[in-house]
Amino acid sequence: MDVGHAESVGRAVEALKRARAVAAITGAGISAESGVPTFRGPDGLWRNFRAEDLATPEAFARAPGLVWEWYRWRRGRIAGAQPNAGHLVLARFEDRWPDFALLTQNVDGLHRRAGSRNVVELHGSLWRARCTAEPARVFDEMQQAPGTGDPGRVPACPACGAPLRPDVVWFGEALDPAAVARAHDAVTSCDVLLVVGTSAIVYPVAALPALARRSGATIIEVNVDRTPLTADADIVLRGAAGVVLPEVERLL
Ligand code: OAD
Repeated sequence: MDVGHAESVGRAVEALKRARAVAAITGAGISAESGVPTFRGPDGLWRNFRAEDLATPEAFARAPGLVWEWYRWRRGRIAGAQPNAGHLVLARFEDRWPDFALLTQNVDGLHRRAGSRNVVELHGSLWRARCTAEPARVFDEMQQAPGTGDPGRVPACPACGAPLRPDVVWFGEALDPAAVARAHDAVTSCDVLLVVGTSAIVYPVAALPALARRSGATIIEVNVDRTPLTADADIVLRGAAGVVLPEVERLL
């Protein structure tokens, strides 16, 4: 560990030790070490696929089978992946601080599989489907919705027969207001906000660190690279989440 990095880890540990309430925002980078592709990295999904063809309401209206195929492919990749050390540290942080909020942009479900119970999935979940006619009808873990796993099939709502869609947020869609409200509460009431493995450019989540800062929180960024947030973060821990988060935890 170089001296600058060790000092930053030390400052992060001190801030966390003083904190009464802690929040974390995670992005695709935290799952990279589990073998799940990010969106904008060298092998990122948006470098190999066009979001307009796969992750918009228009794409689903045009070619629902293709969209389902893509989500099934992603589920297949994730089903074989395991939560990594970074996910596990954040799951243990839930026990360390009674007031700990985990806000994720990830739809992979790895935080829950790592043991986190209180996760706000701001962009939805790959493991749920919902009815296009009655959005309140959500089918968890795909189990109650026959056909969601069948290749080439657009599954139908078991209650009304309308097509089901993945329960994720697509480009051009609003986030669930209840999830956004929970995220706002968490970032405006925390003493420390960890921002882990996100390019911090997709709104509205990208606005949360600035909101936390205005409310007095210390912002700690954990990322292998610079992001637009880096200059405004109080502490920058440069490195892989699966390495850096355990380093921090060991000193807590
Ligand atoms: P991105 O792919 O945009 O960014 C991933 C970030 O993780 C980058 O800043 C990387 O430098 C960093 N990173 C990569 N490996 C890492 C590691 N091992 N440890 C720490 N950091 C690492 O993914 P997101 O920021 O999550 O939205 O993207 C945000 C949203 O854009 C996604 O939720 C998705 C996408 O379009 C929707 O689909 C609505």
